Amino acid sequence: MEVRPNSTASVVLPRQSFGVSSFYIYGTTLFIIIATISWIWFNGTSNTKEPPQISPKVPFIGHLLGIIQHQAEYFLQLRTRQSWPIFTLKIFGSRIYVITSPELVQAVFRNSKSLSFEPIAFKGSQRILQMGKEEIEKLGASPDFKHADYMDKINKGMHASLQPGAPLFEMNSRALNRFAVFLNEIDTTEKQINLYTWVRDHFTLASADAMYGEENPIAEDLSLIDSLHYSRGLVKNASGLIQARYRDITASGCTADNIADWEIAIVMATTMNSVNGAFWMLCHVFSDPQLVSDLREEIEKITTRRTQDGTEKVCFDVSQLQKSCPLLTSAWQETLRAEDVVVSQRVVVEDTMLNDTYFLKKNSMVQIPSRIMHESSDIWGADSHIFNARRFLKPNVDSMSREQRKLQKQGFVPFGGGSVLCPGRHFATTETLGIAATILLGYELRMADGSGALKVPKGKKQEMGVAVKIPQNGLDVLIQRKKEFEGVKWTYDVGGEVKESDMVF
Ligand code: HEM
Repeated sequence: MEVRPNSTASVVLPRQSFGVSSFYIYGTTLFIIIATISWIWFNGTSNTKEPPQISPKVPFIGHLLGIIQHQAEYFLQLRTRQSWPIFTLKIFGSRIYVITSPELVQAVFRNSKSLSFEPIAFKGSQRILQMGKEEIEKLGASPDFKHADYMDKINKGMHASLQPGAPLFEMNSRALNRFAVFLNEIDTTEKQINLYTWVRDHFTLASADAMYGEENPIAEDLSLIDSLHYSRGLVKNASGLIQARYRDITASGCTADNIADWEIAIVMATTMNSVNGAFWMLCHVFSDPQLVSDLREEIEKITTRRTQDGTEKVCFDVSQLQKSCPLLTSAWQETLRAEDVVVSQRVVVEDTMLNDTYFLKKNSMVQIPSRIMHESSDIWGADSHIFNARRFLKPNVDSMSREQRKLQKQGFVPFGGGSVLCPGRHFATTETLGIAATILLGYELRMADGSGALKVPKGKKQEMGVAVKIPQNGLDVLIQRKKEFEGVKWTYDVGGEVKESDMVF
């Protein structure tokens, strides 16, 4: 008998192993061919004037994964790999242009027609506010969402009602007088608070009061935001801002219920970043006792103290907060430089030559991560990583070269710019300065653990869509009214005239 030892093995095994390896080899080869063709396809269509590309670590999807995982911080990580003023990230066939130079940022802001915010604003509103087809039609949106009559009207109305002037300061003093109710409750006995939640809750209520008037449902119950119904006549007592929005939205054919549903957007815009800004401002100034003392001297000058109807009152002139308190204002600007994390976004709605230098392809995204510029030592000098409350004082700014001044002016963008420049910047600034001025003048703040001056906490990971960092943890502090202001009530008034040039933003 013919014995064929290992016949099965000798025949089958080699075949089997051939099958595995050939599958592996052919599969890998196919993948490389597809990947190469795709790579050439997606990369080969570049215009030679397009900004240089940063390749992802994982082909095709690396940048997408990076953005999903690290959010806005991904752009900062890429920045450490090169120092180009603008670079391209490709995710399959789509492009993101990331801008890092002050000059190019301003060029983007100037090109608001071809580098537009409209598609983002509209899509964002649609998603966040869960608008249906019918509502979108009422808003007069073009089919490609690049334009909506509603957005135009609303934005114009909002920008106009928030310009510096009596109506704005009126809204500010309304908010501050409401905030003072909470401050008036704090006496000379030390009270422990979580500074972040304390600022957030009171700031939100005060802002809602300023916008909607005294009959303010948010004041009664924060969860009642949904019940903001203009049809109940609340709009009559509301600020110029809210009345302008009401007029423009109803003209588009939207109902009071539609308006109430969407109102959450304005409450969010008004408080989301301002609350964080005010928190960081307090942390930074109260971390430096010398600064506190210098600021108190400055703030006293815009207050008057008198007894009225048997009550002692200290009144702040809201209109003078920026004009007559340069150190306080500089500390606020520096707070935003240190803590602002906004990534302004635009869509390239038509092929554009940016600054006559870089070709930006239609349907791409432009991202402007302010952090890259706000912490750049080329722009701010060797101490760019340090909080310097005096950085924006006129003598310091004047002592710089013209070139440096220009870089700082162009590269400081906490409120964005161009046609989308934040309309609430004056309101947020005056509100924060007013709150900080009152707490500085009348209160002591120190760490609850007994370690003295405040320690500035770390911020959370920078999420897209947030303009000012959110702290990792609130901050447990002790707050106490100073003896010399025992029993005093804080009030706010609109005093002298203010010109646009008196405002810093
Ligand atoms: C510290 C506080 C604030 C910061 C840092 C901030 C920042 C910003 C930024 C960065 C933008 C986008 C700009 C761009 O993409 O170029 C923006 C837009 C906007 N902000 Fe603010 N904001 C603040 C407070 C406010 C307040 C108090 C209001 C309302 C009273 C407000 C209302 C708006 C609105 C409506 C827009 C969209 C403007 C448009 O589409 O034309 N913001 N803000």
